[in-house]
Amino acid sequence: LILKKREGGCLTESEINYIVKGYTQGSIPDYQMSAFLMAVYFKGLSDEETFALTKAMTDSGEKLDLSCIPGVKADKHSTGGVGDKTTLVLATMIASLGINMAKMSGRGLGNTGGTIDKLESFPGFNTSLTNEQFIENIKHIGIAVNGPTLSPADKKIYALRDVTATVENVSLIASSIMSKKLAAGADIIVLDVKSGSGAFMKNEHDALQLAHEMVKIGKASNKQTIAVISDMNQPLGHNIGNALEVVEAIETLKGKGPADLHNLCIALGTQILEAAGKASDAAQAKDMLELSLTNGTAYSKFKEFIKTQGGDISNIDNPMKLVNASYIVPVISNSEGYVESIECEQIGRASMILGAGRKDKDSLVDLSA
Ligand code: URA
Repeated sequence: LILKKREGGCLTESEINYIVKGYTQGSIPDYQMSAFLMAVYFKGLSDEETFALTKAMTDSGEKLDLSCIPGVKADKHSTGGVGDKTTLVLATMIASLGINMAKMSGRGLGNTGGTIDKLESFPGFNTSLTNEQFIENIKHIGIAVNGPTLSPADKKIYALRDVTATVENVSLIASSIMSKKLAAGADIIVLDVKSGSGAFMKNEHDALQLAHEMVKIGKASNKQTIAVISDMNQPLGHNIGNALEVVEAIETLKGKGPADLHNLCIALGTQILEAAGKASDAAQAKDMLELSLTNGTAYSKFKEFIKTQGGDISNIDNPMKLVNASYIVPVISNSEGYVESIECEQIGRASMILGAGRKDKDSLVDLSA
């Protein structure tokens, strides 16, 4: 099968199942899977192969059945960026408007952050809910965010791709992300596809290609799937680092956040409200979302959410207390001028080196960095 792909052949569904199952169960070793992934990296996958790979990874573990939760269930995914704290704001805004948010999130890797790390800035916050707890929380307060437990095949394959220079392939990224989203069982999947120097997709053309690929997979699986392309040529908002990003998310929930983060949350939220049939058009959706910020319902929902998942909310009204950085060093420009552009990837790398991110999957994160 490695040879077949290396020569540009197309694999059947059962051949792809054989590879995914064999690798996950350990009968196919890392060296053969690495060679296979590199062949895929260069030769690509057809739509049928990508769909079969996604399905094989989705089926490799448990799949959540959310049908016992009344009403529509939405999930959101970002392809990863610098300073991306969107989920914290968006998920609670949406839940405050009566739409269930059943959100599966990951940890940060490299120069991109992860929502699970950010949420752990609240002492006690539980990111490993059982499926029953996850479902109960959504039933009671309309929102739950859990760590990665689904698609074990993707977990193993992604870790191998990370160390074999085979991450940046559209079909591999699309199947990796969608396998987790499909296993999580939501009805609406909104994808925030980042484009720019701080993202996997460095330009709009590639971001659009990834977006189309994921939407195709979602639709073929009978899910309402929508993608938004957003800018990652500069960090999102002003704060980068786990606890610092929580501070900025709280400011945004109080209606005092930076314009780019605020606008992105409104854009993604608009898609969810329209897809859920809660708003008849974008203008109505926008008004509802803005109101959830100005009347305090989104912020109250955030507090309820953190508390329900076991997080200590004693500092939530004074969130800078969540940040205990050992050193604070102002860096002042020597001359006056205008900032024309920002090296987004370099800023992400710098924050990772300072401890905000992981160099590899076993690195420890300093939540205050
Ligand atoms: N995020 C994922 O979950 N998978 C990828 O392959 C890339 C980004």
